[in-house]
Amino acid sequence: MIFSNTSCNEANPMSGKIDSKMITNAEIDKKIVELMAKMTLEEKVGQMVQYSGFGELTGPGAKDNDFKINKIKAGLAGSMLNVTTAKQTREFQELAVNNSRLGIPMIFAYDVIHGYKTMMPIPLGETASWDMDVLEAGAAVAAKEAAAYGLHWTFAPMMDMMRDARWGRVMEGAGEDPYLNSKAAVARINGFQGDDLSANYTVAACAKHFAGYGFADAGREYNTTEITEHTLHNMVLPPFKAAAEAGVATFMNGFNDLNGIPVTASTYLQRDLLKEEWGFDGLIVSDWASIAELVGHGIAKDERQAAELAIKAGSDMDMEGYAYEDNLGALVEEGKIDEALIDDACRRILKLKFQLGLFDDPYKYCSEERQKNDVLSPENLAIARDAARKSIVLLKNEDNLLPIKNDVKTIAVIGPFANDKNSPLGNWRAKADPNSAVSLLEGIKNAVGENVKVTYAKGVNATTGRREFVFELNVNKTDFSGIEEAVAVAKNADIVLLAIGEDCFQSGEGRSQVDINLTAPQQALFDAIQKVNKNTAVILSNGRPMPIPALAENATAIVETWHLGSESGNAIADVLFGKYNPSGKLPMSFPRHGGQMPLYYNRKSTGRPDSRGGEVVFWSHYTDEKNTALYPFGYGLSYTTFEYRNLKLDKSSMEVGETLTVSVDVINNGSRDGHEVVQLYIRDLFGSVTRPVKELKGFEKVLLKAGETKTVTFKLTNAELGFYGQGAKYVVESGDFKIFVGGNSVDLMEADFELK
Ligand code: GLC
Repeated sequence: MIFSNTSCNEANPMSGKIDSKMITNAEIDKKIVELMAKMTLEEKVGQMVQYSGFGELTGPGAKDNDFKINKIKAGLAGSMLNVTTAKQTREFQELAVNNSRLGIPMIFAYDVIHGYKTMMPIPLGETASWDMDVLEAGAAVAAKEAAAYGLHWTFAPMMDMMRDARWGRVMEGAGEDPYLNSKAAVARINGFQGDDLSANYTVAACAKHFAGYGFADAGREYNTTEITEHTLHNMVLPPFKAAAEAGVATFMNGFNDLNGIPVTASTYLQRDLLKEEWGFDGLIVSDWASIAELVGHGIAKDERQAAELAIKAGSDMDMEGYAYEDNLGALVEEGKIDEALIDDACRRILKLKFQLGLFDDPYKYCSEERQKNDVLSPENLAIARDAARKSIVLLKNEDNLLPIKNDVKTIAVIGPFANDKNSPLGNWRAKADPNSAVSLLEGIKNAVGENVKVTYAKGVNATTGRREFVFELNVNKTDFSGIEEAVAVAKNADIVLLAIGEDCFQSGEGRSQVDINLTAPQQALFDAIQKVNKNTAVILSNGRPMPIPALAENATAIVETWHLGSESGNAIADVLFGKYNPSGKLPMSFPRHGGQMPLYYNRKSTGRPDSRGGEVVFWSHYTDEKNTALYPFGYGLSYTTFEYRNLKLDKSSMEVGETLTVSVDVINNGSRDGHEVVQLYIRDLFGSVTRPVKELKGFEKVLLKAGETKTVTFKLTNAELGFYGQGAKYVVESGDFKIFVGGNSVDLMEADFELK
């Protein structure tokens, strides 16, 4: 045996954090060498195998239970996913530890994407807070709850760059900008991992999907990705590099074919770049069966060749794919692959197990008591409510309809998502109890006194039938019944809160859509209600940017609320009643039309960027729609107003390698305290390759009391001014730059400077 066989309660005090003894890397390396010296080739390959549990599948083709149980007992499974609870993880762990020759514990993993039971906003929404403390705190709660349920490893944060809202997984990421995405990734990794992986309230994080999955052609799920070297290095890879530098414990590759090489078989990405150039010493897990699926891609003639390609490329662990266990041993014996490749993968896997403390106590994370005490606690729910309200983006607020005035007597809460306790939990909801969110209707009722009447009508359905992760949704596009009743309710209200948008299962994995518009019944419901009551605030809930030009034109107010998690209704009420002044900013452009996809602010100029006054058609445009976003990246309003003055650079020119200091005064010239996200962009006017018309290179979220002025300062160095040029080499080139500062990516002050 490698460790003392402590029971989980002895090893884990009933509540709180145990002081874990952090084992040094040198000690780990020594222990790994000793252990691997005892292992057979089959046992080493066994560590590279990850099986899904039985109750819940997040992919196709899983094998039967007995098959897996026998492998686990033989010590031929290094990890499991989709097994949760202290009890169940303990049972499977005992199968491995008590029956196998060496008793090596397994790692238990799960997709804890935006919470385990206490749900935070979906990641795209949470990123709209532009508050990295919020992201870190949310991940820390998720880690504590997941660890309390026996888990060691989460397959998060997803950090795929994305530009196409047709792709369902935009809900899972951090939007269209590499700088914001990088900051968000690091914040979430720090939240999940804390400063001690062996602590019983942290879990190993996973940078996924490495790389380029979000560029699926036409936004179609699992579709081919063609990404130039230039875009790959300047747009797609920066969040992953930041994650590796931040010490993320694991990476996950992906399903996508990248420029003809599926990433699971990409030696360039996994070995040359990640493990060699970036020095990553953790493990890379495949995505679900993505090794075996190399056959489907047509780059491997069978699973044996798939296994050979993947291990040579640097995929260390085979998730629910069976390719490694069936083939690696034979490939070594036939001399097709060097056993050293197996040794390296096995070493990386064992290293994580030592870092997690699993050899000291394989049951340290399975505490029934912590499972009861650390989950859905008031503290966790308070963090979820804070994250939710900070993620809300005020898109429009004419006549200062919001916040709701104190003299309001009747509030009508209407729409398919008005009384919905399920959709706010979002997709990728881990073990959230269904229908456990605070609905908008409940949140409003919680917030008002008895002298305010709250009325309700559903109006129309957004979907019909079952709403599950694995079932096709029936999105309602034809049933308009219920509008008349809703209009009657709206007529008699001082203000209408109209909850429309997308069901949470319209986005997420396997949820790409060609039509990302508001459904016709919901648009008709809005039109009918706005006609009888101008005091209507649209409360939009959605997992992706939506083209809402009719709402933008005709609604009095629009509040973007994503899918905000467990405390959704309370957080929205906090904003609507002015308890919290909305401060969110869009992490992804909202289009005027779905046909604009892919749409992103950090675009290139093209050789014909400007309109020549409409005289000719020979410039980059559409004949039937504007080029610009309906609501741009970085956009969001407040109940107060902010003014920018005195943009200053400490020098108008500087040498490469020097630091430029940029400062600006931000004034809250309204009547309410509020937060502003001050954003700094650059434009490199000329380069050895074409450069984006704008690039976010700094942001700071500041609280300004009514009437207060603050000076916000940014520093620009090579790290911000350089880019990956020809041959993907990082360069800083002299030339002319513009600096932009403001509260979104369009309304900006600007200044020039020269880099010599
Ligand atoms: C899924 C997803 C991946 C997830 C994994 C395990 O197909 O692509 O993000 O972590 O399988 O559920």
